[in-house]
Amino acid sequence: MSRFAEPQDPLFRAINTSLSFDRRLWPQDLRLSRAHARMLARIGVLADDELERLLAGLDAVERELREGEFPFRDDDEDIHMAIERRLTELVGAVGAKLHTARSRNDQVATDMALFVREHAQRARELIAELMRALLARAEDHIDWPLPSYTHLQRAQPVYLSHHLLAHFWRLARDRRRFANVAELAGELPLGSGAAAGVTFANDREFLARELGFPRLAENSLDAVSSRDAVLDYLAAAAICAAHLSQLGAEIVLWSSAEFGFCEPADRFASGSSLMPQKKNPDAAELLRAKSPRVARAFAGLVGLLHALPLTYNKDLQEDKEALFDAVDTLELCLRVAREQLLALRFDRERMRTAASDEFMAATDIADMLVRAGVPFREAHRRVGGLVRFAVERGVSLSQLSDGELRERLGELEPAQVRAALALEAQLESKISRGGTALARVREQLEKARAELAG
Ligand code: ARG
Repeated sequence: MSRFAEPQDPLFRAINTSLSFDRRLWPQDLRLSRAHARMLARIGVLADDELERLLAGLDAVERELREGEFPFRDDDEDIHMAIERRLTELVGAVGAKLHTARSRNDQVATDMALFVREHAQRARELIAELMRALLARAEDHIDWPLPSYTHLQRAQPVYLSHHLLAHFWRLARDRRRFANVAELAGELPLGSGAAAGVTFANDREFLARELGFPRLAENSLDAVSSRDAVLDYLAAAAICAAHLSQLGAEIVLWSSAEFGFCEPADRFASGSSLMPQKKNPDAAELLRAKSPRVARAFAGLVGLLHALPLTYNKDLQEDKEALFDAVDTLELCLRVAREQLLALRFDRERMRTAASDEFMAATDIADMLVRAGVPFREAHRRVGGLVRFAVERGVSLSQLSDGELRERLGELEPAQVRAALALEAQLESKISRGGTALARVREQLEKARAELAG
C-alpha cells in the first residue's frame, strides 16, 4: 500500500514529467549517487558488500546510458527516479537503499550545481580561445587604420588592433565572471535532505571532497531551494552573449558593400536562393540574434523565482530547459565567433580610405589651440566654425588656404595645422594610456598576453 489510492492521471503525468530534458543530467546524477553511496557506507548505513553491489549497479546503469541502451519507461518521472528504478531492477533490494538520507530536492540542487560548475569552466575555456583569436588578429593588423565611431558617425581614427582588443577586454571580464559563477556555485547542497536536514549523521565534508565542492551550503532550507548557481550562470551568459552579438553585428556592418572593411570566409556565409550575386554573413547575423535568447533564459528564471516561498516547489523543475538552452547557445556562439573571426579577411585600403577623413582631426586641432593658451570651450567653438566653413564649401581642411586657416584658428600656424591633419599624426597623437598610439597598443598587447596567461 502507498499514500495514493489511485494511479496517476495521464494528464498529470504529462505535465509532471521532466525526463525529456533532465535526462541530460545523468552524468552528474550518477557521480552524485556514487559519492552518496560511499558516504552511506562510511557512516555505517550500508555494509561494504552492499556498497560494492550498488557501485557495480551504477556502473551498469552508466553503461546503458552511455550506449543509449537505457530502458526508459513512460512512467519514469525524471532522471533521478529512472536511474534509481533501473538500479533496483539490476541489483535487487539493495538498490532501494540508495535513497537513504537524501531527497530529490538536495539531489537535483546538487546535480544542477555540478552542471553549472562544469559549464562555467567550459565557458572560460571557450572564451579564452576566442580571446586568443582576437589577440592573434590584433597582432596581424597592428597598424591598419580605420575610423572609430560614435553614433555610427566617424569619430577619430584608430588602429584595427586597438579595435579588436576592445572586444578582447570585454571577453576578459566575461571569463572572470564565469570564474565567479563556478566559485559561488561551490556550496554543496547534498546532505540537506528534503528541507530540514536528515536524521543520519551524513558526512557532508566527505561528499564535498568527492564531488569537488570547496564548501558546504550551511542551511538546508537555503540549499534545497536556491537556484543562485543557475541564475549566476545565466547572468554571466547573457552578458557574454550580448558581447558576442556586438561582435557579430559589427562583422555584418563591416562586410556590407557600404563599409567594405571585411569579408567573411565563404565557409561562414550563405548565398541567396534567388539572387546569384549574394554572399550573406549569416553566421555573424546569428551571433547578433542569439543573444536575446540567452537573456530571456535569465529573465525567465528570475520570473520563476520571484516571490516563491521556501523551500522546494515544483516550479523549480522549470529551471532546466532555460539553462540547457543557454549553455548550448553560448558554447556554440563562442566557437562560431572564434572560427569566423580567424577566417575573416580585412580590407586595408577600404579601412584606410574611411580613416582618411580629415575632419576627424578636429579635436586634435582644438587641443593644439589649448596648448597655445586658448580655453578648451573656445577652441572647440573655433574649430567647429572651421569645419562648418569647409563643409559649406565642400572642401577638406587641407584644401583651405593659409589665410582661411589663420582667420579662424588665430594662434596656430597653418603648417602646424596641416601636419596634424595627416592620418598617422592623428593616430600617434593618442598617447594616453589605453589610447590608440602604436606604443600604447603594444603595451596593451603585452597586457592582453598576460591576461591570457593568468
Ligand atoms: N524533477 C524534479 C526537479 O527537477 C526533481 C525534484 C523533485 N522533488 C520533489 N519534491 N518532487 O525539480
